Amino acid sequence: MIEIVDVWKKFDDHPVLEGLNLKIETGETIVILGRSGVGKSVLLKHIIGISKPDKGYIDVDGQRVSSLKGNKLTKATMNMGMLFQGAALFDSMNIEKNTGFYLKQHGDAKTGKKYTKAEIKERVDHALEMVDLQGVQNKMPSELSGGMRKRAGLARLIVYRPSYLLYDEPTTGLDPITAMQINELIVATQEELKATSIVVTHDIISSLFVADRLALHKDGKIAYINEPDAFLEIDDPIIAFLKKTISEDPRSFRRR
Ligand SMILES: Nc1ncnc2c1ncn2[C@@H]1O[C@H](COP(=O)(O)OP(=O)(O)OP(=O)(O)O)[C@@H](O)[C@H]1O
Ligand SMILES: [Mg+2]
Repeated sequence: MIEIVDVWKKFDDHPVLEGLNLKIETGETIVILGRSGVGKSVLLKHIIGISKPDKGYIDVDGQRVSSLKGNKLTKATMNMGMLFQGAALFDSMNIEKNTGFYLKQHGDAKTGKKYTKAEIKERVDHALEMVDLQGVQNKMPSELSGGMRKRAGLARLIVYRPSYLLYDEPTTGLDPITAMQINELIVATQEELKATSIVVTHDIISSLFVADRLALHKDGKIAYINEPDAFLEIDDPIIAFLKKTISEDPRSFRRR
């Protein structure tokens, strides 16, 4: 379980998180929606502990990750993985090394047990196949398209099998077919790992496909959070706009 309690964060004089509260239950998929620049990526970085709040705290399974540093932080967040906005691959490593990075670095996400080279290779090959990137193992990130880099970032996340998966705009900039494949992969990964997932997206169709609950990040806080049907009925101009875009989108179908 993740508990974010009264978190405040400002950069210079610019407040971004202003008393944000959010509780995420184990095993659920939460989608966070919100206008560009409201602080969604900043929030994810707080959850995995690479940004620290000015005030408030974040507990993950009872551990206060917002107060940990160095080795203790690494250990406490070992079972979390994040797909960064823009994929954030390591430029100097080929796709095989990029994809296997956390496996090699940390071993098993839960136990820390190290993998052999052959085990890493097998898992990497399988993960690349799952994101439809077979055969690119020896390519460098600069040789791939933006969408391919994003899928390689996703392979790196799912191959590691963490208990918490954080996705920062996993489908942005992808064609609709690839975007739907990514959504299916998010759901399949969630079900297979019995993981807890937080997905930040602007894509309402993807949101409805993957989410157990939807949240709106607005004015430095989680303004609303609810199950999809109830969420869409909330009287708020941003939600009204999202609702309107669904009825106009030909991909408007629901998983459940
Ligand atoms: N390291 C940083 N230093 C200074 N300002 C930052 C830093 N990181 C984020 N910000 C600021 O915090 C605000 C929120 O940024 P954030 O990246 O979280 O937005 P976002 O909601 O993810 O937007 P988008 O949907 O465009 O990705 C922005 O005004 C941004 O400039
Ligand atoms: Mg962002």
